[in-house]
Amino acid sequence: MRKTSRREALGLLSVATGAAVMGTLFTGKASAGTGECKTPKTPWPYEKIEPAVAAERAYKGYYEGRCMYGVFVSIIGELADKKGFPYNTFPFDMMKYGVGGVNDWATLCGALNGAAAAIYLVSSNPKPLIDDLFGWYEVATLPDYRPLNPKFEIVSSVSHSTLCHNSVSRWCKASKLKALSKERSERCAWITASVAKRTAELLNSQAAGAFKAEFLLPARVKECRGCHEEKSPLENTRGKMDCSPCHFNLGTKHK
Ligand code: HEC
Ligand code: HEC
Repeated sequence: MRKTSRREALGLLSVATGAAVMGTLFTGKASAGTGECKTPKTPWPYEKIEPAVAAERAYKGYYEGRCMYGVFVSIIGELADKKGFPYNTFPFDMMKYGVGGVNDWATLCGALNGAAAAIYLVSSNPKPLIDDLFGWYEVATLPDYRPLNPKFEIVSSVSHSTLCHNSVSRWCKASKLKALSKERSERCAWITASVAKRTAELLNSQAAGAFKAEFLLPARVKECRGCHEEKSPLENTRGKMDCSPCHFNLGTKHK
């Protein structure tokens, strides 16, 4: 077995016994009042979360801190309420950076970004969960969760991408509504709820030992990767995302 350092041991102990040992979280070295906190290593202990509870919390969280924050707080905030330490020490507000695909750059969908962060915090095998979630998001008709008290009814669409940009613009096309409208914001709140629900389902399934990694790269992406990705003849790109939304016109170098 791996040797556990004193630091880790303290962390583990604190997780096990909770607030009662909060005192041990502060190093002997630190002078009283400086409060150097020993956060335990990840993964932090997980406990089943009701997917519908996560979805509603994510919807509400969206209006507090937008997409990334909404998904993250729906999982990690739930765990903080259930378990207290160490979850309740997390600086949740930092997750607001993911808004609009990171600071409104419309790169990675914030809901996915928040989910991946939460998964990495609590799962001992996060990668297949993220693959499953991202692969689902690309091809699913979303949102697929309708909150209990929605502000508007929302048309769904398929993004064919994990990017905020594609996701929003495909929805604008399907709904004929504007990207900076209240309806689009509501749509992203539903997406936040949908992703939170799916994330809770995946984490629950893995925690119960029932998760099977089923994500397979779509055949066409596999084909492209065969010549352009790792260990391929060209190896001049990387990634698992669908190539076709951007490279729909491949020109003369492909027959
Ligand atoms: C059989 C191998 C092969 C496959 C499969 C393949 N490519 Fe290529 N690709 C090439 C070669 C060879 C070039 C030319 C490289 C050069 O000239 O430097 C190229 C060039 C490109 C370029 C730059 C030139 C251009 O035509 O725009 C892009 C972008 C590209 N490929 C994307 C893709 C995508 C996306 C797929 C999947 C749909 C794909 N490739 C599948 C071999 C392949
Ligand atoms: C979000 C849009 C997007 C997606 C998705 C995407 N690409 Fe690209 N790709 C680009 C852009 C933009 C460039 C730069 C094109 C240029 O400079 O001419 C590029 C460049 C490339 C190049 C180098 C082209 C050259 O001229 O040598 C290859 C090869 C390539 N992509 C393959 C892929 C493959 C394979 C996938 C899927 C796994 C993929 N791309 C997914 C946007 C995308």
